[in-house]
Amino acid sequence: SHGFELPWAIEQFRTRAGDEFMDSSLPLMAVVLGSGLGGFAESIESPTAIRYDSIPGLSASTASGHRGEFLLGWIDSVRVLAMAGRLHAYEGHSIDELTRPMAVMAGMRPSAVVVSCAAGGLNPRFRVGDLVLIDEHIGMLHGQMGAFGADRPSVLSPSSNPNLSETVFANAFRCGRPTCDNGFAEAASRAAREGGFRLSLGTYLAVSGPNYETRAECRMMKSWGADLVGMSTVPEVALASRAGLRTLSIGVVTNMAIPDSPATAAHEDVLAVSNAAGKNLESVVRAIARSLVQE
Ligand code: 6GU
Repeated sequence: SHGFELPWAIEQFRTRAGDEFMDSSLPLMAVVLGSGLGGFAESIESPTAIRYDSIPGLSASTASGHRGEFLLGWIDSVRVLAMAGRLHAYEGHSIDELTRPMAVMAGMRPSAVVVSCAAGGLNPRFRVGDLVLIDEHIGMLHGQMGAFGADRPSVLSPSSNPNLSETVFANAFRCGRPTCDNGFAEAASRAAREGGFRLSLGTYLAVSGPNYETRAECRMMKSWGADLVGMSTVPEVALASRAGLRTLSIGVVTNMAIPDSPATAAHEDVLAVSNAAGKNLESVVRAIARSLVQE
């Protein structure tokens, strides 16, 4: 099998999507579409789809509701590079492998990275269908605080990926680096006000899954200060942030993870709710795209 080659991936983008898409004088927005949020893909104009597994070193996506391809297209005059579906630790991927699609996007130097995910609501003030801006996170994927262990090669290491700039290393070992861009958060909250939908702030805790939490785990997570729980996002956002990119991550509350609520989460319910919340996510993404044009 091939090694992971970022220049190869970027050459594919040029060949398949065309020179205009590679015009770096136009703003570029990278977007990750989480569980059931693929509906947003329909609002991308003139999309070119490139499967992850058509690029050496990237794996196909296997989780239901995840297509496993890049979409390259437009929202008005903004270039949009989207991940329709993502890779998860519970599919058997290392953090290195599952962040490769984000490493490819980061290699395109987008001026915004927006990451979305389905999440369980731990904060009782949340309601199913809410959007939550993730202003802080707790990375417990693979039991690793901060998601990148010294024990495995990372896309961020110079030997495995010479293409990411030194910025990554300048940022890699800073802890508590905020990953929520203030300007994008403002654009998002304006979109929520104008669109009349609920948007809050919260701390997202990432676990490897694929099981949802036991009641005891929900109590533990709440006591740690988590408002949302999910199985993704932290590794991708950590990579983008360490690459020096402006990021915003958004959780869609697809179910409440309440210790004493009799309701149990099912993946189909998660998909149904996130599909419905997709139009609000679209408003947020459009607002951020507009903010890039106005800058
Ligand atoms: Cl309740 N837990 C986890 N770990 N991930 C989720 C979820 C819950 N709801 C959506 N994704």
